[in-house]
Order: sequence, then structure tokens, then C-alpha cells
Amino acid sequence: MDVLNNIALPQSTEHFHLLLLVYNIVMVFLLPYLALVVGSIVAANVLDRRAARRKDALGGMLARRLAGIALPDRTTFVFLAVLPAAAVVFLFIQMFQGTTAIAAGMAALGTLLLIAGGVAAFMFKVTFTISDIVVLAGGRGEAAAPPPQPPDVGLFLAAARDTHRKAGTWAAWLLVIASFCFVGASTIGMNPGNWISIDGLFAFVFSLDVWVDLSVFAAAAAAMAGAGLLFSRFVWSRADETVQAEDDFLRTTAVRLATAGLLVLPLGMLANAALLPSSALSGMVYVLVALAFGLIALGLHFLYAFVRSGQRIYISLLMVMIIGALAFQVTKNQVALHIATADHAATLAGVYDRKTDELRTSLGVVAKQMTGEDIYNARCSACHLFDQKKVGPPYKEVIVKYAGRKPALIAFVLNPVKVNPAYPNMPAQGLRPSEADSIATYLLGRVVGKSQ
Ligand code: HEC
Repeated sequence: MDVLNNIALPQSTEHFHLLLLVYNIVMVFLLPYLALVVGSIVAANVLDRRAARRKDALGGMLARRLAGIALPDRTTFVFLAVLPAAAVVFLFIQMFQGTTAIAAGMAALGTLLLIAGGVAAFMFKVTFTISDIVVLAGGRGEAAAPPPQPPDVGLFLAAARDTHRKAGTWAAWLLVIASFCFVGASTIGMNPGNWISIDGLFAFVFSLDVWVDLSVFAAAAAAMAGAGLLFSRFVWSRADETVQAEDDFLRTTAVRLATAGLLVLPLGMLANAALLPSSALSGMVYVLVALAFGLIALGLHFLYAFVRSGQRIYISLLMVMIIGALAFQVTKNQVALHIATADHAATLAGVYDRKTDELRTSLGVVAKQMTGEDIYNARCSACHLFDQKKVGPPYKEVIVKYAGRKPALIAFVLNPVKVNPAYPNMPAQGLRPSEADSIATYLLGRVVGKSQ
């Protein structure tokens, strides 16, 4: 992790907020797509194996379609999975610099495994067709009595099937482990307790928090694979000439997958919210979880409507609901991450401040340092008095709880969060960390006593 720490630069609070925003945007794309890839490749594997054992042509066809839906071509995979994943590694390196959190390392491991899993998944997808090509080249086609194959073709086919099976198994495992690392990385980030307690691979694998988040991801993967399967068959390629029996099988499998996913998803989300430390909870977190639940309920409703009526529009609506619910989940994680990292962001901003001051001094620029009293008069007195309520609460009432906790007061001033519902939110004051330090010293000195 030291290597990762060394390439990070300290940043101001504004930069930190920008990183969180970028993280949110990147994850809104990455999470649903990754869920689709993992869900469809794992399901394709299961079906393919079962079909091979039972010599079931329908299962084989469906496995092939599943393997294709998330991986139309390499560019899609690179732009929707690899690049966003690499961006998250970069963001985590920046955000968690100077802490013991292994989030960036786990995300980096996840990205490497994701690339390897993607390569194996493409091999799995491509080798589906090899036996067809051989059969066609042998002129068998629909002929009633196939000509006997020369023995080396048989050997080649067996080898191709073996490669196909192995590529499928590798793809499924690599992608699942990649998601485990990736999902776990953000789990660690959301809980400052985990920055210290999850200190290596062992603690990571046995962390309840990580497993709960993985169950959310697994449910999302099932829902996305089911909905994606319906979408690719009935919305995208309507003109496909398929056999009725095949369509029926596809529909049943897809509806089962999507229903299972949509039913487990809220349970996982609930457990995930329950495990967040109280320091990472805010009204916003509950609102976002509730919105996600609403969309999941609507998604189930549209799925049912599709089963009843067979109308395509319901599949598109279902897809939008699932992606929307995941977007809310991602945003909720970002809010939790924001709260969890507030103190750390203030520390980093302090480092950044010191560095810029050093730079200024070395360039011969002398910045005028405002005293705490100056700042109070210029910035705070518009809303705060010491012993009377104004826009904000009187300092006599609120500063006491920060006695002996100056860093917490500095963090609040740099990054105000909702405290008392009886007041409006305090807007961020755009102070530099050294200024926040001065005002905190000044306020504590006046309210609690000179000892601070
Ligand atoms: C635009 C009005 C406004 C300005 C300017 C303002 N505040 Fe506040 N402040 C508020 C409000 C409103 C609250 C109550 C927020 C809440 O409880 O959610 C608050 C709450 C606080 C609290 C109590 C936090 C707690 O844990 O209960 C502190 C400390 C504080 N402000 C410090 C400052 C300092 C220092 C400054 C100047 C740098 C400042 N405020 C400038 C409006 C303001």
C-alpha cells in the first residue's frame, strides 16, 4: 500500500468533494454493467454445463445468448468496466492516502482480476461457435445421415469443448472474485472502523460488512442478467427467428432470475444500511434507500405486467427501474463515504494548506494570517452570537460539546453536516484549514476556557 500512498497528492476540501462526485458518477455506470457481466457469465456457465450433461439444445442456445449480452465487443467492456474500475483505483488512492485503509489496494486487485476475467469471458463466448463451424465445414448441416468424421476432427472438437469449459469456469470465478474485491473496497471506505480493522486479505475475507455488500451485488447481478436477457431477446432483436419452445424457456429462466434478484436486493440493502456506523448515517442515506426500495417495487410490478401481457415496454421499464435503484444505492454509498471521510478530508486539507503555504513562503509571498476573532467578526457573526440565537444556535450552547475535541470542531466548520433539525443547514464557509483551526481555538477559548 505504501507504493499507492506515495503517488497520491494532498488535496483541499473542494478537491476532495470533487473526487467524491466523480466516484459517484463512475460507479453509476460501473455497478449496473459489472452486475450484468457477472450475472450473465455465471448464469451462462451454469446453463452451459447443465445443457452439456443433459444434451439439452435449448439450454445450450440460452447459455450462448447469455454469454453475448454483456459482452457485445471489446470496446464496450473496456469503456464500461476496465476504465471506470481503473478510475476508482485512482480516486481511492487519493481519498485514502495517509490512512491504513486497504480500499485502494483491493480496488486495484479487483481491476486486474476484472481484466483477466474479461479475457476469459471473451474466450468462453467465442468458443461457443467452434463446434458449429466444424460441423458446418464438415458439410453436416441438416443432412439426415452425417458422413463419418475423420478422427482428428473429433479430437479437435473435444479439445475445443474442453477449452470452452475451462474458459467459462475461469471467467466466472475471476469475475466473481474481482467483484468481491471491488465491492469490498467501497465497503471498507464507508466505515472508518474498517480502515483499521480490515488490515489484510484475511480480515477482508471474513468481514461481515463485505459479505453483506456482496449479497447486494449478487442480487443486482441476478436482476440485471434476467432483465438483460429479456431485453436482448424482446426489445433489441425483435425480428429474430426463434422457436417458440426456445422463447418460452428463455422467458421462464429470465423471469426467475430477475424475480430472485429483485426480492433479495432490498434485504441486502437493508442489512447494508443497518451495518453502517452511526457516524456514516444521515437523513439523506435513509431517503436514498427508500427511493431505491420504491424503484425495486415498481420493477417487480413491471416484471409481473410483462409476464401477464407479454408487452415489450414493460421490459424497458423494468430495466430502467433496476438501473435507477442501483444508482440510488451507489449515491447512498457515496453519501456514506462523504460522511465517513469528513474528518480525514479535513486532515488532508491541512496538509495541502501547509504545502501551499511552504510554497508561497519559498516564493517570497507572505500571506496575512487572520486571527480567530477576525474570522468570527467577518464570517460567523452574521449568523452566530455567543449567547443568543440568530440564524444559527448560540455558541454558548453548541461549543461546549466540542470541549477537548478540537479536531471534530474543525471538521464541522470545514464541512458542516446537519445536526439540529430545529435549524436550517449551515452552509460551508470556505475557510482554509489553518483558519478553521484559529476560529476553533478562539471559540473554545471563549466558551470553554483558556485551557483548550
Ligand atoms: C449563513 C449562516 C451561518 C454562518 C455564516 C455560519 N453558521 Fe454556523 N451554523 C448555522 C446554522 C443554521 C447552524 C445549525 C446547523 C444544524 O444544527 O444543523 C450552525 C451551527 C454551527 C455550529 C454547531 C454545530 C453542532 O455540532 O451543533 C458551529 C460550531 C458553528 N455553526 C460554527 C460556525 C463558524 C465557526 C462559523 C464561521 C466561520 C459559522 N458557523 C458561520 C449557520 C451559520
